[in-house]
Amino acid sequence: MTALVPVLSATWGAEKSWSIDTYTAAGGYGALKTALGMAPTDIVQAVKDSGLRGRGGAGFPTGMKWGFLPPDDGGPRYLVVNADESEPGTCKDIPTLLSAPHTLIEGVAITSFAIGCNHAFIYLRGEVVHVYRRLLQAVREAYEAGHLGTNIHGSGFDLDVTVHAGAGAYICGEETALLDSLEGRRGQPRLKPPFPAVAGLYARPTVVNNVESVASVPSIIANGVDWFTAMGTERSKGMGLFSLSGHVTRPGQYEAPLGITLRELLELAGGIREGHELKFWTPGGSSTPIFTQDHLDTPLDYESVGAAGSMLGTRALQLFDETTCVVRAVTRWTEFYKHESCGKCTPCREGTYWLTQILKRIEGGRGTQADIQQLLDTCDSIAGRSFCALGDGATSSIISSVTLFREEYEAHVEQGGCPFDHGASALVP
Ligand code: NAI
Ligand code: SF4
Repeated sequence: MTALVPVLSATWGAEKSWSIDTYTAAGGYGALKTALGMAPTDIVQAVKDSGLRGRGGAGFPTGMKWGFLPPDDGGPRYLVVNADESEPGTCKDIPTLLSAPHTLIEGVAITSFAIGCNHAFIYLRGEVVHVYRRLLQAVREAYEAGHLGTNIHGSGFDLDVTVHAGAGAYICGEETALLDSLEGRRGQPRLKPPFPAVAGLYARPTVVNNVESVASVPSIIANGVDWFTAMGTERSKGMGLFSLSGHVTRPGQYEAPLGITLRELLELAGGIREGHELKFWTPGGSSTPIFTQDHLDTPLDYESVGAAGSMLGTRALQLFDETTCVVRAVTRWTEFYKHESCGKCTPCREGTYWLTQILKRIEGGRGTQADIQQLLDTCDSIAGRSFCALGDGATSSIISSVTLFREEYEAHVEQGGCPFDHGASALVP
């Protein structure tokens, strides 16, 4: 059994865990003082050596991303924290922001110092007003304590932090759409390259990092690279927050080293709800191909999950037991993608519409066997042909569910409706 390592979540259970007093009493902001005494290049090197990979889903090496910034030309460069957590099933950044916002703010200060940024932005979902308020309060506390502002702790380093609430569009979690939105435009992805590291916010060099990535930095500075690399696997180092939801006895966030398995996480979470058994699950949110019982022992690290045919993504483990109709679950996810498609490119804009039409036909008992192939053909017209990853993500659960549960799609067609006893489908108009 892999040992749990509460690092990011260490103070979540403390009284007023979100206050600066609680955070400081637990050693918070000590890493910032250490970092301000280091050369910025040494901080970048430490994060590179730690092997920390982007926790927003893609797993791109964080230190390497910082290293892509061009040499200082005297102009501004920015850090933008992606706090627009929106992937269905993903619920790790908002608990971090609510329970321990100073972990992020300390990480923002250290990261900004390392990359030479004097103005950092935190881009948050607009719907979570309570989180917005908490973040604003935490930023205010950090200014008052001298962790932000001018000449931080006498180091000569200045940093301002702006918290920005978006309007609640899934596509604004895509880093370049987020930057457009932050600049006041309609959030739609930009063509890459240039990557934000070269031309990001206001066309200036910009690091865009996920909340959990930035929040992991203070612990690396405080405890050292060896401490971090001792956790995880060969190429997926450190700890991460795993979000378990659905038919599980104790849903929630579980912090553990990368490489833990779902079987081990389920032991902590009390297993699948009593009297039922696992049917299928997502390892990294609804944009990742689904898994089954066969993958209970797959190590949840980037390489192992990839080798098994899916993606670690946001570590959003949505668990479904045998009472769930896979066609229905996939239809609901696809409706989400259709709704959130930004409309910029034809394969995704039109394709997600047609996917929902076919799925609702099958789910509602009006489909034909040919519709199943039509579904796969439509996925083929979207995946790899869309402007950004949203299009690909929309097809993942469809393709994998037809591969793993084709007989269930066929049963809907043969029986003229859903073989599961969940009443009339709310999805069918
Ligand atoms: P990506 O692999 O294209 O890029 C990852 C990061 O590396 C980006 O910041 C990119 O700028 C940087 N990068 C890559 N190559 C670079 C280069 N040559 N030079 C400089 N920088 C470079 O992945 P993307 O599209 O940013 O993210 C996709 C992931 O997002 C998915 O795997 C999914 O898991 C995750 N996701 C997370 C959501 C959430 O709510 N947290 C929502 C939807 C998707
Ligand atoms: Fe917009 Fe979808 Fe195209 Fe991405 S794939 S640019 S979300 S229409």
